[in-house]
Amino acid sequence: MTAVGIDAVEIWTGNLKLDLPGTFAAEKGEDPEKYTKGLGLNASSFPDSYEDIVTMGANAAHRLMERKGLEPDDIGRIDVATESAFDNSKPVSTYVAGCLEQVYDGDFHHANKGERKFACIAGTQSLDDACNWIRAGRNRGRSALVIATDTALYARGDAGEATQGAGAVAMLISEDPSLVELSTEQGYGSADETDFLKPNQQFPSVDGKRSVQVYLARMREALEDFESVAGEVHEDDFVYAPFHTPFPGMVRKAALLAFRHVIRDTPTEDELAEEIGRQPRPEAFDSDEEYRDALREYMDALKDTDRYAEWYDATIDPTLTISRNVGNWYTGSVHVARASALKHALETGRDLTGEKLLVGSYGSGAQAEIHAETIQDGWEDEIEALNVDEQLDDRYEMTWEDYEEIHDVHNHEMDVDVEEFTTPSEEFVFDGWGRMGERK
Ligand code: HMG
Repeated sequence: MTAVGIDAVEIWTGNLKLDLPGTFAAEKGEDPEKYTKGLGLNASSFPDSYEDIVTMGANAAHRLMERKGLEPDDIGRIDVATESAFDNSKPVSTYVAGCLEQVYDGDFHHANKGERKFACIAGTQSLDDACNWIRAGRNRGRSALVIATDTALYARGDAGEATQGAGAVAMLISEDPSLVELSTEQGYGSADETDFLKPNQQFPSVDGKRSVQVYLARMREALEDFESVAGEVHEDDFVYAPFHTPFPGMVRKAALLAFRHVIRDTPTEDELAEEIGRQPRPEAFDSDEEYRDALREYMDALKDTDRYAEWYDATIDPTLTISRNVGNWYTGSVHVARASALKHALETGRDLTGEKLLVGSYGSGAQAEIHAETIQDGWEDEIEALNVDEQLDDRYEMTWEDYEEIHDVHNHEMDVDVEEFTTPSEEFVFDGWGRMGERK
């Protein structure tokens, strides 16, 4: 079977930055280490007043098309994954195509366009749809453009406020890809959950503590399901394991709890049950708090073992570098984690061609998915082309007052008198309703 997967990737961060241990912690009167050590975050990316999911998605896609020398005729499909959509009928992909048509001679009239929704996992679902479209032989030699774009903002004062973020990831899906080939084996863990909802509202209603437990339970199920089709997973099978990263502390827990059996010499489920007095599942405890305390005790002991620490430092920690500085990008988050890991490999001179990644995606509501990816021999050039460090350094750092103002703007309080904190040049900008996506 022909290899199908991600040929190239581009990342576009929101142009503003909020410092968490500094500005945010000071305003909230919290210990900065709650953010840096507890959640594992240093900063969040925010959209400036002229940025939204369309502009960030179109900017990422445009950069990708330019770098790969593509024209609209080369693209047979544009899928946008987002949970920040503003239109219940017209998909965001049509707005993005409209932006791109301003700068190319051709158009996307023969490209199939759609929008995918399932919280954060929609980015991976779109990737999957695009791969299946190619595998089914419907692509007529063309590639798919998959864009994961979100403004992941929470209401002010919500516990999730510290984990906010904004950015887009554009991926080109092709036959014989240069970056990674996706496995056809997949595992799922899915259940009807109500821990994170946005029913016709701008900011989510979240039961944050419960959402952490749901993530862990679904991820564990997905891994078991994956193993049932792909065989048992062992610690040396994968060079990195990028997971959905709402904040790095979440992945620290997932690596420990959902993946502990991957590491040799760690207790089995039954041994763990014996150690904590019952099955290590939320339903075996009277409350989420009790479950959390029991697990924390167990995990503290496990993470102090050399074997675990070595695996974590090599396989998980490098996936979190970008996330620490940008926060949650919802649909883009797991794709940022993959880029972060491969960037680490490039910087440390590792040759990864033919090696495998274990990718864990998650969306509230809830569903986790696990698949494997095989790194292709063009990966170094593709990752070298990313300018993510430059983008992060160029962000304008907001004061607390700037932050409150920009947060109101993105809550659609459009009458707020907004300053542009950064000056856009050569990028798509939101210029008011009806004049969307003009290029400055
Ligand atoms: P919180 O109440 O702000 O924080 O909520 P906390 O008190 O639980 O503290 C966080 C961690 O910092 C804890 O670590 C503390 O111990 C530690 P843990 O015990 O959990 O390992 N801590 C400190 N460490 C060092 N020094 C200190 C200190 N103080 C505390 N001084 C919560 C945290 C995650 C609930 C909140 O941020 C939230 O509601 N976030 C939004 C929901 C979320 O991100 N959930 C994650 C799973 S669901 C998901 O990933 C899906 C999602 O992306 C949406 C989608 O799919 O669409 C969100």
